[in-house]
Amino acid sequence: MPENASELIDSFGRRHTNLRVAVTDRCNIRCFYCMPAENVLFKARDELLTFEEITRFVRVAVKLGVNKIRLTGGEPLVRQNVPELVRQLRAIDGIEDIALTTNGMLLADHAQALYDAGLHRLNISLDALSKETFERITRRQGLDQVLEGIFTAQRVGFSNIKLNAVAMAGITEDEVLPFGHFARQHDLEVRFIEFMPLDADDAWQRDRVLPGEQIRSLLEEGIAPLTPAPRLDPSQPATDYVFADGRGKIGFINPVTQPFCQDCNRLRLTAEGQVRNCLFSTEEWDARAIIRGGGTDQQLAQLMQESITAKKAGHGIDSDEFIKPQRAMYQIGG
Ligand code: 5AD
Ligand code: SF4
Repeated sequence: MPENASELIDSFGRRHTNLRVAVTDRCNIRCFYCMPAENVLFKARDELLTFEEITRFVRVAVKLGVNKIRLTGGEPLVRQNVPELVRQLRAIDGIEDIALTTNGMLLADHAQALYDAGLHRLNISLDALSKETFERITRRQGLDQVLEGIFTAQRVGFSNIKLNAVAMAGITEDEVLPFGHFARQHDLEVRFIEFMPLDADDAWQRDRVLPGEQIRSLLEEGIAPLTPAPRLDPSQPATDYVFADGRGKIGFINPVTQPFCQDCNRLRLTAEGQVRNCLFSTEEWDARAIIRGGGTDQQLAQLMQESITAKKAGHGIDSDEFIKPQRAMYQIGG
């Protein structure tokens, strides 16, 4: 590949430096906003990219300017040996940051190995602190297991842990204040994410979205005023706040009521090696065919560039032309 290979800049001038890699489409719970309740069709093992194949893809992406990686799923920790993948990725020159998004169910078992492999940033998905609501959303038991995962991760040295809480009208209003207190007590950031139309069962409706601004009011009325935190990364989707007394960080990811597509710097690689330029894209670019068909790094780079060139301005959830992607969240990688 030429030394001066161009960067991943789309037709709106957005530079893509952030790659999200799904390592599996499997999951050990069944959040209704993501997976179908039953009969989930998972990919066969040999359809998934191997760690070596992922690492090759990432090496090429890094030459095109990618410097941040996030491992996702499905639930990444249901795949064996994720710490080994972390080690392989860390060895790539040019990667400044590796993070992982997990549902926390297996985290107590793996936190130490992940930390030792060099992973120091964790997002843990948890939508409810009450058992009843947790089980209603995930259709499984496991709240205590996730809490144990969070505390174990803190004990082995993970700091600045972020909890991702999907907010849904009529379901999670009563979770807002407990999460506010939880953030204050346990020195972590809770980020509320608006429910997006990426569920397998087509349950999403506009009026099921609990707007971030409404959550902010609930927190300010119920706990204390929130003041904006400095915005360190302009392309980060979350707007962060701290409670005025300095204790407890809260973030809002409002893709529906306040789309942030204009600052998007992310591209995605699905577990079976397809490049996506957006969560909501209806098209994919087949990197696995190149990787397994004896293709060159140059061809892989071109594929990434093609995908980025085709990227649309935004998701357009509110427009009449919005088309819900065929794939649900667990097949895309959050
Ligand atoms: N809307 C909003 N967030 C979602 N996630 C999964 N599906 C949806 C959806 N339909 C979140 C998960 C996790 C992250 C990967 O994406 O809760 O935190
Ligand atoms: Fe599993 Fe994450 Fe989907 Fe929940 S959102 S079912 S934890 S992949």
